[in-house]
Amino acid sequence: MSSRIPLVAGNWKMNFDHLEATYFVQKLAWLLRDAHFDFSRCEVALMPAFTALRSVQVLVEADNLKIRYGAQSVSVTSQGAFTGDVSADMISRLGCSYVIVGHSERRKYHPEDDANIVDQVRAVLAAGMQPILCVGESFEERRQGIELEFAVGQVRDVTRDLSDEDTAKLIVAYEPVWAIGTGMVATPDSAQEAAHAIRSSIREQFGSSVARTMRILYGGSVTSRNASQLIEGADVDGFLVGGASLKVDEYAKICRLA
Ligand code: G3P
Repeated sequence: MSSRIPLVAGNWKMNFDHLEATYFVQKLAWLLRDAHFDFSRCEVALMPAFTALRSVQVLVEADNLKIRYGAQSVSVTSQGAFTGDVSADMISRLGCSYVIVGHSERRKYHPEDDANIVDQVRAVLAAGMQPILCVGESFEERRQGIELEFAVGQVRDVTRDLSDEDTAKLIVAYEPVWAIGTGMVATPDSAQEAAHAIRSSIREQFGSSVARTMRILYGGSVTSRNASQLIEGADVDGFLVGGASLKVDEYAKICRLA
């Protein structure tokens, strides 16, 4: 079990409009309240589509809810003639705590490479939020037995030019691509092995204090049936949940198991 405060973040991807998002957050707050959930023991976050962020902010602030929220991506530019982009400052002003960066679906469907991802990380940090950097191998890397080097390499590509202070604020989500949306969850041992390899690499680069501080999440077919085994990993500090985060009762169970 990790010594860091766990984080359970739900990546809604392109699901739920602002009304559905507001109802979900309200229902989740009621479920966790009725379960006497201790938010000082585990952070709970939801990552809605941009269009729902303001509605979620209004509810969270009006009811003083302890549920945090964030965005699923961010533009690397701050303002100006960038049609369709959303800046980190704009997202930060909506009360967001986190921004997912480098998700495999962004790397696949958008021109997001390591250079662009580093710029996104810097923009999120500069706006006072925490980046959740997604890394993880495909089937091919796992078949070749290089999954650990691959994930560690993705983290190093981003942290190479970051300061100790900024790296300590980074949250890494180890999300093997072959586990996303497939129901094929990583074994607790392999999730722990990857998290440990990432933390060891951070320790080599930045020292023990930064390595001890950084939270490393697991993502990829997390459910209430596998969460309690996965969270036992000493280097696993929580989850980035996709499909299961769309079902409020299921998501509340996962939060309580973290
Ligand atoms: O970002 C988390 C997401 O990619 C995982 O999706 O549906 O496998 O939990 P899922």
